[in-house]
Parts: sequence; structure tokens; C-alpha cells
Amino acid sequence: MTPFYIAGRPASSDDAVEIRHPYDGRPVGATSNATPEQVEEAVAAAAAVAAAAAALPASARAAALDHVSARLKERADEVARLITAENGKPLKWARGEVSRAVSTFRWAAEEARRFSGAVQRLDTDPAATGRIALVKRVPRGPVLGIAPFNFPLNLVAHKVAPAIAVGAPIVLKPAPATPLSALLLGEILAETDLPAGMWSIVPIPNDRAPALVADPRLPVVSFTGSGPVGWQIRDAVPRKHVTLELGGNAAVVVCEDWDDLDWAASRIATFSNYQAGQSCIAVQRVYVHERHYDALADRLVAAVEAQRTGDPGDEATDVGPLISEDAAKRVEAWVSEAVAAGAKLLTGGARDGAAYAPTVLAEAPAESKVVTEEVFGPVLVLARVACDADGFAAVNASQYGLQAGVFTRRLDRAFEAHRVLDVGGVIVGDAPSYRADQMPYGGAKASGVGREGLASAMADYTEERVMVLTGLQL
Ligand code: SIN
Repeated sequence: MTPFYIAGRPASSDDAVEIRHPYDGRPVGATSNATPEQVEEAVAAAAAVAAAAAALPASARAAALDHVSARLKERADEVARLITAENGKPLKWARGEVSRAVSTFRWAAEEARRFSGAVQRLDTDPAATGRIALVKRVPRGPVLGIAPFNFPLNLVAHKVAPAIAVGAPIVLKPAPATPLSALLLGEILAETDLPAGMWSIVPIPNDRAPALVADPRLPVVSFTGSGPVGWQIRDAVPRKHVTLELGGNAAVVVCEDWDDLDWAASRIATFSNYQAGQSCIAVQRVYVHERHYDALADRLVAAVEAQRTGDPGDEATDVGPLISEDAAKRVEAWVSEAVAAGAKLLTGGARDGAAYAPTVLAEAPAESKVVTEEVFGPVLVLARVACDADGFAAVNASQYGLQAGVFTRRLDRAFEAHRVLDVGGVIVGDAPSYRADQMPYGGAKASGVGREGLASAMADYTEERVMVLTGLQL
């Protein structure tokens, strides 16, 4: 049984949890849920170590982060196989996730080294002659990180690495479906010299999360997951610093000037189906200038049909199962509802257990769930637009605003998209699913508040503290 970690030490309980492979249901590992007493121990230790953690020299924080990065790299194959086993994502995407986590920790180490503060002159006012302000950022306090199942390693890394980088203790709750990757990360963290209490990884069922959220000793909550849960958290603790990375129904606009339809089709097909669409920035809505619509639709259907489905443990598989049969049934119901309301099914539309076939719909009614909600499955919805501006308006006609992709080579069009699209990120010349782990990542509107990406999360986990010096001149 894989242990969990309380104040950096391995622990277990009698409340065993078996983890099964989403592809065929075979058991792939087991851990246990932390008891309320063990969770209390983790939180108390985080609170007790907060001052010492904040005082840790940058060299110690960076060394721990570098160690994790190096060890993940050394154990990359094993970690990728574990991700595939508990999450069902194809090995090639699991390998991509591990190399991203290697870079997330490496970036955190680099940011920890340059996390310095600023000097501000105050003698702009005669009365303040001889005064200087030193502005540094200090941790707001211990962080509660709540991670989702879809990137069971790298989205845990995005909670843990910035906390260590700024010297904030963290209590991490992994997703109940996929705790094993986070616990393997715990095994590596336990090899570092970080002080006891600086980090804990506590598997608990979701219905026990509200008590942790409410705990005043955890003044920062960093949540990635579903919208309803995220907003409930923010409403429950309005005085805490809460960041939310929630869902999206990411859109692409293929503009009038775009000439490489093969590239657009291949990128859209790949990134509507990667991880079986279980990414908040998987392509869901595709708005195509009428000049290209027919030609792109043909290429897109061919590219989607060329995606290899099957056993995620096979290196050649592109699309594996969803996290559970229930998740696939929900996707099936939404597609059927859209088709009943008039959408045309161009390909796909079939479920086999937890697997759902890569699917393309056209002419889906604007109010159908496959357009308005986050599908979180391998489904894309094609629509024709009369001009690029209509495409941008269609992207914005959504409750969500995480990232958008714009296929254009025109610089003015790219700048226009960046100006008018109400999203956290615009990817020009590619699908919206591109994410570099050091860049700010997060959403507008219902997609959340705050940004991840190392420097951005470090800013969120800290607040400015000013020291005014008198009798000095710059
Ligand atoms: C997410 O699903 O929000 C994370 C996407 C990513 O890290 O690539």
C-alpha cells in the first residue's frame, strides 16, 4: 500500500483506497485516506513551521526544487507509466506530463533564486527626503492545494513547487481518482531537507475538503477543478486568498488569411482528443471562416478519424478512455442531446465502456451543452463564420474564458485577437491547448481567478511587505 505523507513523513490508515485502471478496471495500486486526526497533524505542522519555512534561504528552497526536478527526470518512465495506470491517459501524453513537471520544478528553483523584491525611492516628496522603501514579498501563510485528476502530476507540481519556492508550507489534497502520482512525488520530496511540516500530501474524499477549506490556519487556497466546487470554495471563505483554475470550452478561430489547412486540421484534431479531451484547454469549439469551411471540415474529419484509439499503455495510442464510465456516459448524453436538437454528427458518437470515440459535430444549436458547457471529452463542434470578427465574437459568447487559438498570419489580426478576446491566453498559429509551464495560465469569467505559472503563483501565495528606511539617500 502506497503511503501518504503527513508533515513530510510516510503514514497510512485503515481506510484503504484501491485505484483501478480506467481502461480495463484492473487494480493498479492502493493507498489509504488520511484520518481527521492525521489531517489535523498535517495542518498543525504547516502552521507551526510557517515562520521557519519563510526564513529558509533561497539556496535551500532551490536545492529541494532542483532535486525533485532531477529525480522526476531520472524516474520519468516509471512515473509516466503510473500516470497512465491511474488516469488512463496514453503513455505518450503521460511522458509529456512528466517532462513538463521536470520543467515546472526546475523553473520554480530558478524563480526561487531570483525572488528578491525591490527598492523604491521615496524622496519624490521633499518631506520624505532621506527615505527609501524596501519592498519584499512574504508568504501569506500555509497553502491548501486541491488538485484535479486530469494532470495528476503536473497540476500537483503547480501547487507544490511555487509554495516551496516562496517558503510557504503546503497541504496538498490529490484527486481521489488519481492520488498515486502525487504520492510518488511525495516519496521524492521526502528525500529533500525541507523542514518537517513544510509539505503534506493527504488523500481524503471530496466531502471532507470543506473542513480543510474552512481551516483558518490555511489562509491560501489554490484550487483546480470544476466550476461549481471552485466558486463554492470562494464563496465559503471570502476572506481567504483563493485562486481558482476552473473549466473552459476552448475555441479556435481559423481566419480568412490562413492558408495551411492541413496544419490547422492536424492541430485541432490532436488537441480536441488529447487525454480524451480531459484538459481545460482541449479544443471544443471551432469557428472557421466560410472561405475555408468545407475544405477544413473534410480535413478535420479525416484527421480525427486518424487518431488511434485503444490501450493507453500502447506507445502508438493517441486517445484512451475517459477517467470513468460515468464520465463517458455524460459525454454520450450531451452528444445525443445535440444531435436530437439538430446537430450533424460528422464522425464518432459511440461509447464503449469508459471510452468515447473522437467526435466531430457541425451545426450544433448555440444553446446545446456541447457548445455552452465544458464537455471534457473528445468532442469538437464546428461552425462557419462570415468574417474573423464574427469568429472572435463567437469565442466570447461563452461563460468561460481560459484560452483561445487563432490561426492567422496577419499581425494586425493577432493583435486584434489579443485585444478583444476575453480569455486568459491567446495562442496564435496553433490550438488553444498550448501551455508552457512558466507562463501565466488561468482564466477570465467563469474560468477562474488568479494565474498559475511559477512566477504568477508565487505572487499569489505572497503579499508585499514594505520597510521604510530613514536617513539614507539612494
Ligand atoms: C488544465 O486542464 O487546466 C491544465 C492544462 C495544462 O496544464 O496543459
